[in-house]
Amino acid sequence: MSTDTIEHNRNRQDFSGIESIWLFGYGSLIYKVDFPFLEQRPASIQGWARRFWQGSHDHRGTPEAPGRVATLIEQPGGTCKGMAFRVSPSVFEHLDVREKNGYLRFSTALTFENGSYAQGLVYIATADNEVFLGHAPEADIARQIATATGPSGPNSEYLFRLAESLRTLGDECTHTFSIEAFLKSDS
Ligand code: SIN
Repeated sequence: MSTDTIEHNRNRQDFSGIESIWLFGYGSLIYKVDFPFLEQRPASIQGWARRFWQGSHDHRGTPEAPGRVATLIEQPGGTCKGMAFRVSPSVFEHLDVREKNGYLRFSTALTFENGSYAQGLVYIATADNEVFLGHAPEADIARQIATATGPSGPNSEYLFRLAESLRTLGDECTHTFSIEAFLKSDS
């Protein structure tokens, strides 16, 4: 699949007749909310784990020196906490451009803190996209993040802001917190 997912995403879901839809954010969508929303609620999705396995050429790195940003990897029994936003489908015109570096929109069930459920969408960069980097030891991921920077700013800022948001949400994301600890011990 090509790196630029804008066209792929435009053809993925039919929004006709839909006034609003839930979007689940687990990475920068939690803390960089540059889109209008109707409602936001902490939520979680089951069967997924957050991993810094996606390359970033356009936001937190460059084609020559890509950064690493979050995607979701299937993990039976896993829970990933994040923030759900109820948005108008028109918001995807902007978000598809923002998330174009390998992310596709998938349908997912969301669980809210009161135990109720809703169906929504989530952007995931799967292993078949051209800039997927995959597993590496967390110390190595931290070293890559420490030096990468791109048009949206330093890669370390992405990691630190996400870690702070996850603490607020009460997500015990040991992967993110371990990379954060390596980054802090090197600085
Ligand atoms: C997300 O935040 O849900 C997607 C990945 C990102 O934009 O960091």
